[in-house]
Amino acid sequence: MIPPKQVQDILDATRIEEVIEEFVTLRRRGVNLIGLCPFHGEKTPSFNVNPTRNIFKCFGCGKGGDAITFLKEHESLTYVDALKWLAKKYNIEIQETERTPEQVAEMQLTDSLYIVNEFALKHFQEQLFDTDEGKSVALAYFKQRGLREDTIRAFGLGYAPEQRDLLLRRARATGHNLDLVKKVGLCSQDGGRDFFRGRVMFAIHNISGKIAAFAGRTMSSEKTIPKYINSPETEIYIKNKTLYGAFQAKKAIRQLDECLLVEGYMDVISLYQAGIENVVASSGTSLTEGQLQLIKRNTNNLKILYDGDPAGIKAALRGLDLALEQDLNVRICLLPDGHDPDSYVQTFGGDAFTKFTTDNAKDFILFKTELLLEETKGDPMRKAGLVKDIVASISKIPDPIKRSLYLKECSALLEVSEQALIGESNKLITTVLKKRDEKAARQPGAASDYPPNTGGYDWPTEPPPVGDPTEQIGSFPPRREGEGMSRSDEFQERDIVRLLVQFGNQMLDKEGVSVSEFILSDIGESLSDFDNSLYGKLASLCYDLMLEQKNTDHNYFIHHAEKEISDLAIDLLTSPWDLSPNWEARWGYPLQNQPVPDLNFDTDMRQALDRFKLRKLTKLCNIVNPARIKTASDAGDIDEVMRLMRIQEKLKSTRNELAKKTGTIVLPK
Ligand code: CTP
Ligand code: MN
Repeated sequence: MIPPKQVQDILDATRIEEVIEEFVTLRRRGVNLIGLCPFHGEKTPSFNVNPTRNIFKCFGCGKGGDAITFLKEHESLTYVDALKWLAKKYNIEIQETERTPEQVAEMQLTDSLYIVNEFALKHFQEQLFDTDEGKSVALAYFKQRGLREDTIRAFGLGYAPEQRDLLLRRARATGHNLDLVKKVGLCSQDGGRDFFRGRVMFAIHNISGKIAAFAGRTMSSEKTIPKYINSPETEIYIKNKTLYGAFQAKKAIRQLDECLLVEGYMDVISLYQAGIENVVASSGTSLTEGQLQLIKRNTNNLKILYDGDPAGIKAALRGLDLALEQDLNVRICLLPDGHDPDSYVQTFGGDAFTKFTTDNAKDFILFKTELLLEETKGDPMRKAGLVKDIVASISKIPDPIKRSLYLKECSALLEVSEQALIGESNKLITTVLKKRDEKAARQPGAASDYPPNTGGYDWPTEPPPVGDPTEQIGSFPPRREGEGMSRSDEFQERDIVRLLVQFGNQMLDKEGVSVSEFILSDIGESLSDFDNSLYGKLASLCYDLMLEQKNTDHNYFIHHAEKEISDLAIDLLTSPWDLSPNWEARWGYPLQNQPVPDLNFDTDMRQALDRFKLRKLTKLCNIVNPARIKTASDAGDIDEVMRLMRIQEKLKSTRNELAKKTGTIVLPK
């Protein structure tokens, strides 16, 4: 354990821009630095680093946090390893507190298991590249399968000759502990024979690039010999948390915001070699939750490539509900008859592969529906089963809007009324919710944090209505207020009103209109939406004056008959910069308004307007529109839902644009 005092020292020494600059090229813009986001693909920079607050934020993909978050996400480090990384960078020596003997033993064990695997990899590589047998048999095999030498090295491929105990003898000669060699499965349990013999070798890396295990492929096509044999599970190789190729692929997966999933080792390697790097393999088994989480950490978009017969595919589809539960967008692509990803890309090349998979990938639910429909043609009993099967999949999707869209589409495909599908789906969801309730009730203390944290899984939190069975259930997740961010826009409103009073009748050179005309023609429609009614009232007064083409001199407000207006005007004119010390914490963005000389009212006004609009837009994005989408979705009006969702996208991008312009961090809601 790193003592808390040292954790603090490390954090204090850390400058976020220095950390991020090791991975991303940044350039200065105002007080911030910007660059191309390393977490998603982009051509214009929206990745912001704020040195004063020691945080980063990408306005494109929304990722943000401190240096630790950055290292955890970008380098797949644990919290402790991120701290150690920083300590090393800033030359802080960590004196870890005493570990228990068990902890020490465990650390030493995993370290030494990796060391043995490293040794074995080197051995297999030497056998491949530096021996006559390796070159003529194994290297020739890889080359015949179209692999280049750089690829062979990048994936840690090797060769284990047929000899009985070549690796064991080397291990002994170099002083390796034979118990550990046994433990990682490199030799037989009696310690008499090597485990991998007469096979080409594939190193299996963990996500940070250490060698967790090996697979060995026979070069013989003899059917009685198992094609692959694999290292056993150990402390460092947990199969259902490992995805082959993930280490090599993770950067590309983030940048392209998509993960391709294939079945075999060779598929991963061939695609990677052809420039398609965002690819991992499940290694012939169905996807596990642990593997899905590994994907989910890097992208929400999963494209699965299948070869093979419909029966096999059908079986594979069954496992995919798990991916829906994780709220992954799953697409399926079938390769042409007789091809797997490896053979396709070796035959037609990377571009053809990308084009084919882009053109032919289908949404998972619709794919499944069509596939099963084909089989049950004219058999009503089987069709009933199919409907249940599809609705079960759809009901796994946490997002109620997505669910309702699928129910609508599948209702058309299946020729079953949407109402029936909704009813069926509600039944399933209710059952799940009940089970969860019961479970929560059984666990002492668990009731208080209901709904349980299911990793982003937003099941509707309210019990579904008992009434109308055709009404789709599933409420929106409760709105989370950004921490430290005020709910009201009063400050931004006050700033607008201040400008009206202070500079209202000043002329803007460029536009040839007055400040109040400029402001009010820009935000005139929002006056009724002011959170602070007094500010709204003053702004409306000003609006009326403008319409009557009257002068809006500050004297007008100071001498206004209504006391609250004149008080406010005086207040605004006398203490415009007297802001409370915890201003930034309260209002969510750094104080940028230094006392501005009167000459600067132009810039001052434009900035104030941007911040005002940003607030109002954020509110629209977060409250008004979702509420309307919900109403439309409840009413089953899919077209309206789609339309509002498009508006939502547009609003968000405009808001992000504004946020960029004002240098404001938009807190995720
Ligand atoms: N697999 C395995 N053991 C086997 C067969 C297959 O562990 N006896 C796993 C491997 O992870 C393999 C994957 O299932 O990569 C897919 O099998 P397959 O398509 O047969 O293997 P490929 O990797 O495509 O190998 P090749 O192209 O050399 O046949
Ligand atoms: Mn293959």
